[in-house]
Amino acid sequence: MLSDRSAVGEGELNAWTRATRAKRASGEPLLDLTVSNPTKAGLPYDDEAILAALATPSTLVYEPDPRGWLEAREALVAAGLAPHVDQVFLTASTSEAYAHLFTLLADPGDEILVPAPSYPLLAHLAHLAGVALVPYACRYDGRWSFDAAELYESVSDRTRAIVAVSPNHPTGAYLDADQLEALASFEVPLIVDEVFHAYPLEAPASTPRAFERAEGLVFALDGASKRLALPQVKLGWISIAGPDAMVKAATERLEGIVDTYLSPSTTQHALPALLALDAAPRAIRERAAAHLAALRAVCAGTAMTSPRVEGGWYAPVRLPATKTDEAWALALVEAGVLCHPGYFYDFPDDEAWVVVSLLTPPEDFARGIDQLARLAR
Ligand SMILES: Cc1ncc(COP(=O)(O)O)c(C=O)c1O
Repeated sequence: MLSDRSAVGEGELNAWTRATRAKRASGEPLLDLTVSNPTKAGLPYDDEAILAALATPSTLVYEPDPRGWLEAREALVAAGLAPHVDQVFLTASTSEAYAHLFTLLADPGDEILVPAPSYPLLAHLAHLAGVALVPYACRYDGRWSFDAAELYESVSDRTRAIVAVSPNHPTGAYLDADQLEALASFEVPLIVDEVFHAYPLEAPASTPRAFERAEGLVFALDGASKRLALPQVKLGWISIAGPDAMVKAATERLEGIVDTYLSPSTTQHALPALLALDAAPRAIRERAAAHLAALRAVCAGTAMTSPRVEGGWYAPVRLPATKTDEAWALALVEAGVLCHPGYFYDFPDDEAWVVVSLLTPPEDFARGIDQLARLAR
């Protein structure tokens, strides 16, 4: 009765989630280093300004525009977050933006190249769209990067797009100009997810935005969830750049797709005012930098290492491969610490990685990484 592609997140729960639930149910205290919701991470928000932005009178009238409210698009262009009002589409989230782009670019059975390790939701989004994900490896050698020649080997006559996440979740690597150029040279549309772009840590000197350097067709994704640290606002946006004829063809089709749903709601009217609020993003940048420094300090003298984190809210930690990353993460749950095992993100099977969130409230982070260091000693 039900379609195969509607089956996402089913099947047996993985061992880490089962152990975490059991530990929570036992009532024992837990140090949660997987925090991903900024609104519950003890950050300073300008509540009054946010509420005032949401209460704008223009929300009282329905004037649908498939690309999203013009003044919101103008505000994105003015903030340098989109190339032109006609080359940006508002969506209800970045996840929805991915879904629209998969519809725009691929038919069921087509292939989309994605980085590994990377953001786990991509697998669900692709499954729902009926497209196949083909991973390309990103490896650490002082920086996380991919081998362009190897990536090119994965391009087939069914490849419809290459996804890059800049900075990547959870490795933190930005795409640099050379990598953007290499990806563009394959003449396959690029989808570059830049939701963490505003959170540099150990970033390279130049972190170009994909739409500024577009040689081929590029779709750059961003959204309120990370950029403004306001996931509840439910707004994402797609910037489109590249050769004029390709941009024209893509924007016309995309307009038809978004017009079918018209999903951004009244919160798009708040975007111009919300873009000016920086209290929570600034606090995240400061917290993430302090946590990364603390992580480096506890790694010293242990068997765990913390590679360079160029940006974002997460830090992968490498542990000795004496046991699998799942076994490490389960041992940590037992010790009262929650870290995601690397396999959730497609880290290589023969390496042991866990991922910690740099958004974690400071006291829990300090105690959690101390426990981690104790286990890895
Ligand atoms: C890399 C990346 N892209 C997109 C998203 C989803 O963003 P949104 O809340 O706008 O759907 C996330 C959320 O964690 C993410 O990590």
